Amino acid sequence: METIEILVVAGARPNFMKVAPLMKAMEEHNLRDGNGGKRIAARLVHTGQHYDEAMSEVFFRELGIRPPDINLGVGSGSHAAQTGRIMTGFEKVCEQEKPDWVVVVGDVNSTMACTLVCSKMGIRVAHVEAGLRSFDRSMPEEINRIVTDSLADLLLTPSPDADENLKREGIHDSKIELVGNVMIDTLVANLEKVRANGLLPRLGLKRKGFVYATLHRPSNVDHQASLMTIMNELKRLARQMPVVLPIHPRTRKTCGQFGIALDDQPSLKILEPIGYLDSLCLTDNSRLVLTDSGGLQEESTYFRTPCLTLRQNTERPITVTLGSNKLTRLERLSADIDEVLHRESRFGQIPPLWDGRAASRIVSALVSRS
Ligand code: UD1
Repeated sequence: METIEILVVAGARPNFMKVAPLMKAMEEHNLRDGNGGKRIAARLVHTGQHYDEAMSEVFFRELGIRPPDINLGVGSGSHAAQTGRIMTGFEKVCEQEKPDWVVVVGDVNSTMACTLVCSKMGIRVAHVEAGLRSFDRSMPEEINRIVTDSLADLLLTPSPDADENLKREGIHDSKIELVGNVMIDTLVANLEKVRANGLLPRLGLKRKGFVYATLHRPSNVDHQASLMTIMNELKRLARQMPVVLPIHPRTRKTCGQFGIALDDQPSLKILEPIGYLDSLCLTDNSRLVLTDSGGLQEESTYFRTPCLTLRQNTERPITVTLGSNKLTRLERLSADIDEVLHRESRFGQIPPLWDGRAASRIVSALVSRS
């Protein structure tokens, strides 16, 4: 039997829920009769871009991802320093492992760094969540997406807008495959656990009676004026209904630097970063999600929970056109919140192929090209 050697790369928090179903689908492929005489030998590489227990290990535990086979332990640093360390470490791994394919996911520095290494070594790269574009090159993730997609050999897209973006950039049809949203595979697989999760009573929250907020984009949290405006708005909102804000390490750091108090409004509940199941439970049950995260725009669309995204653009436009998401900005935030709180508490549609089976379509795409 032929063996396809695959390295799967994960580096930062939003990657872990994307690699979980991939690792599982690869195992299932090997157990299936009629796997085309091709076995997959998959190894998981963690770059170590995120390393705190609450930013990394908790996801491996909750999602049953096996411990990484290789951890590069790169840690934090400037973009250049972090990218450089990932590249140096990953080049050695590729020299040793000589994979047939490297699978990268999402748009973080680890995604781009590993793709760059492979493209110079002649190793084929498959990019999961390809083709998303915010058309805003001031976002580090947009640079990572453009570089990754221009170099990758197989572009696995979550929605038709992504296919259109890639074709417009001159990428040949034969490299593009619409497979759906792999993050929703993980969501669907964990729905029962999410519904059995006792977080709401533990936090003293009522279904559809609180706001779930997350904030970590440099454009929001690295500037004093914008971070102060957002935090003041959250405190104002908290006088109306409880607001839960699990705080990203970057945001905690800048609140400290800018002298923004985190404990002067008791119904603004600041938590340490939370795990995956707790986050889904809050997304499902909140009256409103207020976020600058990419993943939460998609997860709230799946639950049809109203979402306001604190960004000027989104690389996930389907969450606005079909889903429950709306873009907002500082000057409009207060009016947009009031408007959402007067609407129904669930609306929008779940996009096609956000059905829990994206990972098995990805494995078929890889096997048929090997
Ligand atoms: C990264 C991704 C971003 C993603 C986000 C989710 C890039 C360019 N950005 O941003 O797309 O949405 O992850 O969290 O790849 N830190 C810790 N512990 C950790 C990790 C980070 O304390 O485990 C702190 C460090 O001070 C670090 C800072 O957070 O300097 C930022 O981490 P970094 O990985 O550079 O970027 P994120 O802002 O997390």
